[in-house]
Amino acid sequence: AFEIEIAGTGQVIHVPAGLSATAALAAAGIEVPLSCEQGICGTCLTTVLSGVPDHRDMYLSPAERAANDCFTPCCSRALTARLIIDL
Ligand code: FES
Repeated sequence: AFEIEIAGTGQVIHVPAGLSATAALAAAGIEVPLSCEQGICGTCLTTVLSGVPDHRDMYLSPAERAANDCFTPCCSRALTARLIIDL
């Protein structure tokens, strides 16, 4: 489990094990554009301002992953307790 903080509003969303980040966000009324929901298309790509994503997609290149400034919330998770994202 980890938390997502929305930069700008400061809203914090808990993402439990077994629930995708986008599902947890949607439950909080925050809709991220989705298409494949499998980490292939990049439609859900979201800016990360703080924290370290656990990239589980097949969309980002190794260099893009290493930049640590975005992730695909449809399938990816976090290595840190909290990610701060910009929507
Ligand atoms: Fe396709 Fe997230 S919806 S990569």
